[in-house]
Amino acid sequence: QVLQGRPRDLAGRHVVVSAGGTREFLDPVRFLGNRSSGRQGIALAEAALARGASVTLVAANVSLDLPAGAEVVRVVTTAELREAMRKASASADAIVMAAAPADFRPVSMADAKIKKQADGVAPTIELTENPDILVELVRTRTSRSPVIAGFAAETGDANGTVLDHARAKLARKGCDLLVVNDVGSEQVFGRPDNEVTILSADGSEHPVPRAAKGEIAHAIWDAIVQRVE
Ligand code: CTP
Ligand code: CA
Repeated sequence: QVLQGRPRDLAGRHVVVSAGGTREFLDPVRFLGNRSSGRQGIALAEAALARGASVTLVAANVSLDLPAGAEVVRVVTTAELREAMRKASASADAIVMAAAPADFRPVSMADAKIKKQADGVAPTIELTENPDILVELVRTRTSRSPVIAGFAAETGDANGTVLDHARAKLARKGCDLLVVNDVGSEQVFGRPDNEVTILSADGSEHPVPRAAKGEIAHAIWDAIVQRVE
């Protein structure tokens, strides 16, 4: 049980955690989404509550039970997630962007259901890039507060290893910590456990061996607590 034997080192702190995956609607019945279950974000919220924090959980399309004791804000689209994060982060000591926002959304949403054409020609859906919420949160903060952590789902490829891509991403995003998931195998989505590396802007690299998502959550808060003023 994550509640036992944990320091209350987040007492008096307000933390904001996002969880789940956003949806972008093509028409009233269809959307573009992703495989994020919200499990890791929920585990982060639970762990922060156990450590005494006041927690805002911004949940995007999560179908799991949410922790009692957290202030929950439910969102659907990336635009809603962005607005909720902007509001909640004003008073935050730490922010963890565990949600998976859709990178792209349809340029426009059809008012009515898109119908099949008699000639069998499939529609072409034009996409536009969503704003990067994490980058915005980093840009709009004052000095080093709040501490901001992002997640990165990466696969190794011809251009570099998982950690090569993650280092570049950490630099691009400008956040303090980046929690790196290797999604090259079926080892992450919807599973109760995870294995991550916590990269820090100061150059440190902390591997967290495979463990329940609750344990991973505490390892992430350990890294954050060290950096909270
Ligand atoms: N993120 C965000 N807003 C977006 C996209 C991502 O805040 N529009 C955040 C995620 O919540 C995560 C971090 O950025 O904390 C990294 O997300 P990831 O999908 O790995 O990075 P991207 O910048 O979207 O790059 P790509 O998917 O191309 O690897
Ligand atoms: Ca992405």
